[in-house]
Amino acid sequence: MYLKVRVIENRFVGHPSQKIYRLVLSGQLALKAKPGQFIHLRVAESHDPLLRRPLSIAGIDREQETITIYYRLMGKGTEALSQIRENDYISVIGPLGTSFTLAQKGEILLIAGGIGIFPLFSLLEAIDRTKVQVKLFWGGEHKLFLESAGLNYLQKLGIDYELATMDGSLGHKGLVTDLLQGYLEKRALNSNPALQSNRGLAPLSAAACGPKGMLQAVVNLCKQHEIPVEVSLEERMACGVGACLGCVCTVREEGGILRRKRVCKEGPIFAGEEVVWDDEI
Ligand SMILES: Cc1cc2nc3c(=O)[nH]c(=O)nc-3n(C[C@H](O)[C@H](O)[C@H](O)COP(=O)(O)OP(=O)(O)OC[C@H]3O[C@@H](n4cnc5c(N)ncnc54)[C@H](O)[C@@H]3O)c2cc1C
Ligand code: FES
Repeated sequence: MYLKVRVIENRFVGHPSQKIYRLVLSGQLALKAKPGQFIHLRVAESHDPLLRRPLSIAGIDREQETITIYYRLMGKGTEALSQIRENDYISVIGPLGTSFTLAQKGEILLIAGGIGIFPLFSLLEAIDRTKVQVKLFWGGEHKLFLESAGLNYLQKLGIDYELATMDGSLGHKGLVTDLLQGYLEKRALNSNPALQSNRGLAPLSAAACGPKGMLQAVVNLCKQHEIPVEVSLEERMACGVGACLGCVCTVREEGGILRRKRVCKEGPIFAGEEVVWDDEI
């Protein structure tokens, strides 16, 4: 769906050194958008840069008909996007791609690495937390990053979370997957030995977004504990709509057959166990 949408807000949030912006867009996008999907944005009126940029939908407000995006300045495209003013109109294709499965009961574990938290915000909002217990693990470079990228928001939501930073300035010093591993081991020990795996307990699932290495480690841990996990993959994109094959990843289908799939069309959300990681090809 190609749309011209109005920019309601486009300003940096948190500490300026972290270069994180919040972009709020108005329009019909909000009526169809689902957690995990993304939009493909023309970041400047001119054709420089020529290619659109993909950004995840972090917030969906159907009543106000707005969606919220968070983005970090990386290069030319996001730099140009940050110059767009409120009340300007921008060209958007979306919502695009597949969405996360919405758990209906039991417990869901959310695992985020860095700015991988952004698509998980919309999932968090969509989960009925009166029926589903949510536990979030989030890792980042340091305290300033986590504070700038949405820690306040998590605190307001009142969800159960654990944090990790590489420099130890907040939470566990180390990787977010250390936290996940510790949690899963404790959970397995505390449960009935006969039910130490996912079998027989309240349905437990997981969703993750972050760098590929982190996602691979999350999938391995979830496999060990027999937990179905969905991952949001990121690839550089050109067309964003399945036409150019510029964003393919490899998946293993039933019977072990390897197939190339387009992250923009068949993804970005994939079942973790089907993804074939770069070092496994
Ligand atoms: C489905 C999807 C959802 C995304 N959601 C978000 C989001 O919610 N918020 C956000 O800040 N970013 C998100 N990204 C990443 C975002 O699209 C890129 O950061 C952006 O396109 C960079 O454009 P640029 O012109 O500013 O940087 P460029 O000049 O194109 O690149 C600058 C640097 O960033 C790296 N880079 C660019 N794109 C990617 C990518 N896709 N993955 C890894 N490294 C990359 C480049 O290798 C280079 O080192 C998403 C990407 C995808 C594919
Ligand atoms: S970006 Fe063109 S097929 Fe995915």
